Amino acid sequence: MNLFLETIVFLVKFIWLWLLGVYKALMPASLQPQKAISGWTVLISGSGSGIGRLLALRFAALGCRVVLWDMNQAENEKTAHLLRQAALGAQATTYTVDLSNRDQVYRIAGQVKDDVGDVDILVNNAGIVTGRKLLDTSDTADALMVKTMEVNSISHFWTVKAFLPAMLQRNRGHVVTISSSAGLFGASGLVDYCSSKFAAFGFAESLRLELAKQKKDGIKTTVVCPGFIDTGMFEGFKYRFPILMPILEPPYVADKIIEAVLIDQAWLCLPRSAYLMYYLKGLLPVNATDALGEFMGILDLMDEFKGRKKD
Ligand SMILES: NC(=O)c1ccc[n+]([C@@H]2O[C@H](COP(=O)([O-])OP(=O)(O)OC[C@H]3O[C@@H](n4cnc5c(N)ncnc54)[C@H](O)[C@@H]3O)[C@@H](O)[C@H]2O)c1
Repeated sequence: MNLFLETIVFLVKFIWLWLLGVYKALMPASLQPQKAISGWTVLISGSGSGIGRLLALRFAALGCRVVLWDMNQAENEKTAHLLRQAALGAQATTYTVDLSNRDQVYRIAGQVKDDVGDVDILVNNAGIVTGRKLLDTSDTADALMVKTMEVNSISHFWTVKAFLPAMLQRNRGHVVTISSSAGLFGASGLVDYCSSKFAAFGFAESLRLELAKQKKDGIKTTVVCPGFIDTGMFEGFKYRFPILMPILEPPYVADKIIEAVLIDQAWLCLPRSAYLMYYLKGLLPVNATDALGEFMGILDLMDEFKGRKKD
C-alpha cells in the first residue's frame, strides 16, 4: 500500500477509534458488551486485604476459580474463608508468597500451574507505601524504599513472565496492573511510591504495545490509577479539596475494576476528574502545573500520614 493510501486508512481508523472511545467512556459498562469469564482462573496478588480481597469475592461471584497470593498467610486464609462463607461455590486456593523475592515468585507460580493449571486473568494488585521523604529513607538492599519498587513494580516482571506464555499460546488472557494516580502525578513525601507506580504504569503500557506487536488481540490489559482509597493503606493522607478528588470507597473501586476487565477497558482512572488533571498536565507548562498542584495541596498530602500501624 502506498503512503497516501496508508494515511487515508489510518485516518479513518483513527477517527473511528476515537469516536468509539468517546462512546465507551460515556456509555455505562452495564450497557456495553461484556466478556464471559465464568470458569476462568484469576490470580490476585495482595488478596489478603483491601482491594485484593474485594476483587477475589467479586471474581468468585462471577464463577471464576481464584488463586490468592499474599505474604500475610493469616489474612489471605481469611479471604478464602470469606469466600467459603459467601457460599459462592468457587474454588479458592491460597499461597503465601513474598513478591519481592523473584525465586519464590517463580517457584510458587510453578506450584499454581501444577495445582490449578494456567491463569487466565492476572491481577498485579499487591502494594506497599513507606510515606517517608527521600532523605529519610535508608538505602541498604533490604530498605523499604527498594522493597517498594520490588513489590509495586519489579514483581510484575516475574508474575507476567510466569503466566503470560500460556496466555500467548491460547491467545486468551487479561493482565490487570494496579498502579495509582501516584503513577501519573508526583507528590511530596511519596518519591519511592510514585517512582514504583510510574514504573507499573509504564510496564502496563509497554506490555500492551508488545502484545499489539505480536498481534495477540485475545490478551487484554487494564491499568488502574485510583486516587486515595479508604482501605487503611494511606491512613492520615489528606486532600485539600476532597470535592475534586473524593476519597474512594473500596467496594466502588473493586466494582469499577471488575467492570473494566469485563469490557476490556485499557485504562481506568478513579475518580474521573483524574483524567482531566492528566490532560491538563500535558497541556500546561510545568511551572503552571506545579502551581496548580500546590494550590490543590499536593505538597501537604502526606503531612499527617500514618499508614497501616502493623506494616
Ligand atoms: N489505598 C489507596 O489509597 C490506594 C490508592 C491507589 C492505588 N492503590 C494501590 O492499590 C493496591 C491495593 O491497595 P490496598 O489499599 O488494597 O492495600 P492493602 O494494604 O489493603 O493490601 C495490600 C496487600 O498486599 C500484600 N503485600 C504487601 N507486600 C507484599 C509482598 N511483598 N508480597 C505479597 N503480598 C504483599 C499485603 O499483605 C496486603 O494484603 C496497591 O497496589 C496500592 O498501591 C491504593
